[in-house]
Amino acid sequence: MTPILSISDATKRYNTPDGNVITALDNVSLVVEQNEFVTLLGPSGCGKTTLLRTISGFEDLETGSIQIDGSTVTHLPAHKRPVNTVFQKYALFPHMSISKNVAYSLEVSGVSKSQITTRVGKMLELVGLEGFENRKVNQLSGGQQQRVALARSLIAQPKILLLDEPLSALDKNLRHKMQQELKTLQEEIGIAFVFVTHDQEEALTMSDRIVVLSDGKIQQLGTPEDIYRRPENEFVARFVGEGNLFDGEVTQSTTKGASVTLTTGQKTVVSQSGLKKGDKVKLLARPEDVLIGKSSNTKDITFNGTVDHVNFIGAEYQILAKSKDGTSIKATFRPDVEQRDQIAGVGSDIRLYVPKEALHVITKEKVI
Ligand SMILES: Nc1ncnc2c1ncn2[C@@H]1O[C@H](COP(=O)(O)OP(=O)(O)OP(=O)(O)O)[C@@H](O)[C@H]1O
Ligand SMILES: [Mg+2]
Repeated sequence: MTPILSISDATKRYNTPDGNVITALDNVSLVVEQNEFVTLLGPSGCGKTTLLRTISGFEDLETGSIQIDGSTVTHLPAHKRPVNTVFQKYALFPHMSISKNVAYSLEVSGVSKSQITTRVGKMLELVGLEGFENRKVNQLSGGQQQRVALARSLIAQPKILLLDEPLSALDKNLRHKMQQELKTLQEEIGIAFVFVTHDQEEALTMSDRIVVLSDGKIQQLGTPEDIYRRPENEFVARFVGEGNLFDGEVTQSTTKGASVTLTTGQKTVVSQSGLKKGDKVKLLARPEDVLIGKSSNTKDITFNGTVDHVNFIGAEYQILAKSKDGTSIKATFRPDVEQRDQIAGVGSDIRLYVPKEALHVITKEKVI
């Protein structure tokens, strides 16, 4: 099947007024399949909006090409591309009725009145706003306005919907609700969404695949599980989720994995293949993989220290512990009912360990 979107070697530079050149996109290549929910994730200024704007045609590429549904659109003006964008600030017409807002693009392109009424009705039903036709936008809640913005963008039946941080103005509870709704809507209408966020949790929850960007480059492209469990470089490991990184060197490698000696002197084994003796590596352990107690396997990473911080965050506790040599380790755990009254307090001694199976080897440098 033809991918719905194919971006090849896209580069975009901006000249700033003070004479500098910013490379907002640096050789970006990306393929999005039909019906896929792909999220662009990265820190402020990494190029997310620029990438969306080059897809929609609001920005020209310096080099590279873009294909949508098999046709090259690289030099096509924005209004001729079969895509639509939902912006962070919904850009609705505040004094117009909901129906008028949603109908707008059909009206300007001369669709008949009866067609418009039918399609607006269907769209409002789809986003759960039937009965709101005659309300004005400024008489709606944030979540309802968001739905109007979605309906307005979807009514023209784009092949791809681009969404630039559409949920960031909403409070946490509403945001979670809208995340679910948006995902369900995407599955229902069956078109590809390219969604921008700098919120990693949002990206993990919603996406089929995530594109992690930094400095205009793709750092990693993969499923939420790939990105979280198997980050390819330190940037991705640190940007997505919390983690402990242990420096080490490969001392022996076999077809089944490798032995690694940490800078602390501890020896462990990892199951990743393809490592060579002498390789410098970082081992990632997520805080939920750090366990309390004494390990029974000599190849697990063990840690003796004192508790430096305890954060209670409802379902779980976060513990930051420090060892005598100054290294620190983060652990999160969910105590069962009996354990709840025995949480180690700040200053108390603690023994922690990471089962060797939980270690993930990071081998790549950041893509710079
Ligand atoms: N019109 C412009 N002129 C000059 N530089 C620009 C222009 N638009 C964007 N930039 C720069 O290009 C880089 C990428 O910007 P972009 O808006 O794509 O980032 P972003 O990832 O969307 O960030 P945010 O999360 O803050 O929205 C930034 O360094 C930004 O300052
Ligand atoms: Mg942006």
